[in-house]
Amino acid sequence: MTHLAYAPTGSTQRVPRPRHFLMTPPRHFAVEYAINPWMHPGVEVDRDLALRQWQTLGDTYCRLGHRVDVLEPVPGLPDMVYAANGALVTRRATIAARFAYPQRSAESGAYASWLEAHGLGPVHQPVEVNEGEGDFLVVGDTILAGTGFRTTPAAHAEVARLTGMEVVSLELVDPAYYHLDTALAVLDDRTVAYYPAAFSPVAQAVLATLYPDAVIATAADAAVLGLNAVSDGRHVVLAPGATALAAQLTARGFEVLPVDLSELLKGGGGVKCCTLELRRPLAGGASGPE
Ligand code: ARG
Repeated sequence: MTHLAYAPTGSTQRVPRPRHFLMTPPRHFAVEYAINPWMHPGVEVDRDLALRQWQTLGDTYCRLGHRVDVLEPVPGLPDMVYAANGALVTRRATIAARFAYPQRSAESGAYASWLEAHGLGPVHQPVEVNEGEGDFLVVGDTILAGTGFRTTPAAHAEVARLTGMEVVSLELVDPAYYHLDTALAVLDDRTVAYYPAAFSPVAQAVLATLYPDAVIATAADAAVLGLNAVSDGRHVVLAPGATALAAQLTARGFEVLPVDLSELLKGGGGVKCCTLELRRPLAGGASGPE
């Protein structure tokens, strides 16, 4: 029997691409200092709940067939769970982070050592402030780069030189969306979702030109860090509160998987913050969890 299928725009079968992620459990997670408006030192943090929520995120990736490696956290570095900031790993280059705030600076070495030990070196040490995948998002052959609060424009040029990729600078203007990955989600090699008000007028114009079909998120989606999402090209893992965004993604043929990271939101991070993508094979080309 033949069906004349009616498909909503853009919902042709979306094909997931297997990913390799590095994650760090929130074993020492706490809100001890405030370096973004989400952080209120003294707020009660349920570390066991944070660990369970983090585990659910890792399990979700594994269920989708992705590989997850785990880096053991260092005591005294409460923000280390936000692995996205630890480095930037493209097909050609591994670039360590250089944090804007001293409270996080020691995380860079911990991530760099792991990457080096697993055959992803040489690890380039940037001269400029560079908060890894928090501010550098790979979309196909392009890197979108945030600036305004952490990573500097000079770091964008440094990353362009080291990766050989086109780097597009985007200025962030709202302190609540201090990293690019809090205001923009990469859905596949050509598609992004973003919250326009987080960007300067120039950056908004750049995004509108580059991605005329982008998913435009609402203020409410952004406010629950709904854009801090991870997509494999078909499945999008994101905050459960981002309901309007989820509906738009579903209408476009993506499969939405909500994962609640409410405890980690107290540090100003969500799904993507906890996830560093490794785009180069590990030494020996091993695959499957260690
Ligand atoms: N407390 C951390 C900071 O302010 C949160 C980092 C979130 N990470 C991210 N990729 N947006 O640096």
